[in-house]
Amino acid sequence: MKFFIDTANLNEIKEANDLGILDGVTTNPSLMAKEGIAGEESILQHYKTICDIVDGPVSAEVIATDYEGIIKEGEVLASLHPNIVVKVPMILEGIKAIKYFSSKGIKTNCTLIFSPGQAILAAKAGATYISPFLGRLDDISSDGLSLIQQIRHIYDNYTFDTEILAASVRHTMHIVHCAEIGADVMTGPLKAIKGLANHPLTDKGLEQFLSDYKKLNQ
Ligand code: G3P
Repeated sequence: MKFFIDTANLNEIKEANDLGILDGVTTNPSLMAKEGIAGEESILQHYKTICDIVDGPVSAEVIATDYEGIIKEGEVLASLHPNIVVKVPMILEGIKAIKYFSSKGIKTNCTLIFSPGQAILAAKAGATYISPFLGRLDDISSDGLSLIQQIRHIYDNYTFDTEILAASVRHTMHIVHCAEIGADVMTGPLKAIKGLANHPLTDKGLEQFLSDYKKLNQ
């Protein structure tokens, strides 16, 4: 399973990249706003900076919701760097745009996926990735992981090349469950990624090893 970090924060992106396990980055307009990135020039520059840090796919989301607008914005984003993936919302205009981008060899991430039907439609249009939001489903007492499981099953029935990018990952166990299900990619916060390393028996064991070593090697 590929690991993407879901943030526009450059320090967190650098920290995750320095771990050597990072495969890519996803952003969205809310994450960009959280970092105070506003205005077309600054937004485009920020994407370029992220692409300079991480050697892997970087999802940059369009704001337009009409076909022409999505195409115009998406082409500008795609021209920024070969690793840019144009993130397009799951709406019918978005599906048409994904089909267009697919025919032009422009990579896409169909975002805001909340049902298997939406996942089928995006795959039919040729989306490179689809982003089912598992945390947001969990937030409303629905089962985000079941959705990912259903989509995995459906995609495996056919020859869709579309990758399942589990998004809205909130904690470490979401990552483990996504791996069990067979999501192709997960995107999550740095804290959830770093949480994978934690185990009290590891800490205890290491402490013991170091103390035993020190007893004879002062
Ligand atoms: O980038 C899309 C998704 O990962 C958002 O996550 O935590 O805002 O539901 P969240």
